[in-house]
Amino acid sequence: MQDQASKLRDSATATDCRLRTIAITSGKGGVGKTSLAVNLGLMLAGEGRRVALLDGDMGLANVDVMLGLTPEFTLRHVVEGQKELHEIMLPGPNGLYVIPASRGIEEMAHLAPADQAALLERLGQLEGMVDILLLDTAAGISPNVLSLILAADEAIVVTSPEPTAITDAYAVIKVLSRHRADPRAGILVNMADGSAQAEELFEELRRVIRHFLKVDVRFVGHVLRDECVGRAVCEQKPFSICFPYARASRSLADLARTLVVPGPREPQPEPFWDRMAHWAAQL
Ligand SMILES: Nc1ncnc2c1ncn2[C@@H]1O[C@H](COP(=O)(O)OP(=O)(O)OP(=O)(O)O)[C@@H](O)[C@H]1O
Ligand SMILES: [Mg+2]
Repeated sequence: MQDQASKLRDSATATDCRLRTIAITSGKGGVGKTSLAVNLGLMLAGEGRRVALLDGDMGLANVDVMLGLTPEFTLRHVVEGQKELHEIMLPGPNGLYVIPASRGIEEMAHLAPADQAALLERLGQLEGMVDILLLDTAAGISPNVLSLILAADEAIVVTSPEPTAITDAYAVIKVLSRHRADPRAGILVNMADGSAQAEELFEELRRVIRHFLKVDVRFVGHVLRDECVGRAVCEQKPFSICFPYARASRSLADLARTLVVPGPREPQPEPFWDRMAHWAAQL
């Protein structure tokens, strides 16, 4: 497994374009962030993009479970200087790389400046190794989650059609809008009954966001409610691989096609990890 990571690292060239970071987040828990992050990562990787998925949920490590991976080392070992970044990256299906985080991200914020600088340099290796870094965050608006979202180039706020999930998605946008005029956020409606329902829901949410928060959000798309998603989780296999023609897989594939091309956002100039350390110290 290390071999693959080394190959990936060696293939990086100085001319590689900037890493694009996308945080997948939500106000309410259980709306499908991890399922979507894993399968979106697999689809993008399957198209030949170099993709890494960082399990940024400090409480529950879910990504590895969904992919049936058993991480021996996590970002914590990089923070503590015991491992290099490429040594903790786990290769998943389609060439997708998983970065298990454990509490590593949280600990980054509390390091002495010199240690933090050394760590940032190590993490900076990722810039040349992958094109897209997906961040699967925990639900809610704790400082840890916020520092990840604010550091990312773009946030995908996942909601289900349930009123409580929609209200909590609004709360995430509200907090983001306090920190910047452009929240750099999009809404993804998961567990939708159809495209009309998802679009209507989005338009209503967007209207309220524009009216009360004076910011705008984009529509990322929708993923249909599909019992195959739950079945795949039980089998510890990604639904897009087990059931490639299921409703959820096809709707996610449509969304993946429009997600990164053309890029809705130019990546920010400072490296992602520096921005993360900046926000972690501020919040
Ligand atoms: N499109 C879908 N159709 C049907 N079930 C879904 C869909 N997406 C997710 N689920 C189910 O919803 C449940 C929660 O999914 P998941 O763990 O991905 O959510 P989460 O937002 O990451 O949760 P948490 O906030 O706990 O991290 C799982 O049982 C999953 O199978
Ligand atoms: Mg999750």
